[in-house]
Amino acid sequence: MRIDIITVVPDLLTSPFSHSIMKRAQAKGLLDVQVHNLRDHTPYKQAQVDDYQFGGGAGMVMMPEPLAILIEKLQAERKYDEIIYMTPDGNLFEQKTANTLSLKENLMIICGHYKGIDDRIRQHFVTMELSIGDYVLSGGELAAAVVVDAIGRLIPGVLNDETSALFDSYQDGLLAPPVYTRPADFRGWKVPDVLLSGDPKLVDAWRHEQSLKRTAERRPGLLSDENEG
Ligand code: ADE
Repeated sequence: MRIDIITVVPDLLTSPFSHSIMKRAQAKGLLDVQVHNLRDHTPYKQAQVDDYQFGGGAGMVMMPEPLAILIEKLQAERKYDEIIYMTPDGNLFEQKTANTLSLKENLMIICGHYKGIDDRIRQHFVTMELSIGDYVLSGGELAAAVVVDAIGRLIPGVLNDETSALFDSYQDGLLAPPVYTRPADFRGWKVPDVLLSGDPKLVDAWRHEQSLKRTAERRPGLLSDENEG
């Protein structure tokens, strides 16, 4: 999968993809993340990419021209399955969105800054708008990193043990069960006996029961058909 990210702060997107699973995904050739500095593509002097908003009001808006130039340059090189704009007023990014996006070939992600991007870019280029939660970040970069990480680890072959993503929280609509490792007795705090039983059926049943219990306690909305919202 190829992901092109458009940003005015490329440095914010260096580290998130340089470690651990994202690094491995790229080393294996399963994921190719390319970060583009919008300022390198603006036709305006002094690398200007933003301007005052029409109608007045505080805060700058990202101009349409540099964005259109870069988007169209990228589109000339490949066909994008989605052009995603990271914005707090987008659709909530959830595991099911990550699952769907992990099957795509080419994604473009636009990170907003200041007051956001000129709405004409949203109307004429953007195909999907995503928010990572009901709070406002100072830019879309950290949100884009979250989305790329969540998608990237789901690409087949990225995780060592491919089944491990199947047991993630949310993957089956439930929260994950608790996990334990050695020692079996730490300061007198013991690992549940069933996990030491060596009986996979019992272990599975216990994990499922714990998942249901956790979900009921912490996120009861996930158990009903409707979303928690
Ligand atoms: N940009 C600023 N805040 C954001 C959020 N919560 N989600 C996605 N993009 C954003």
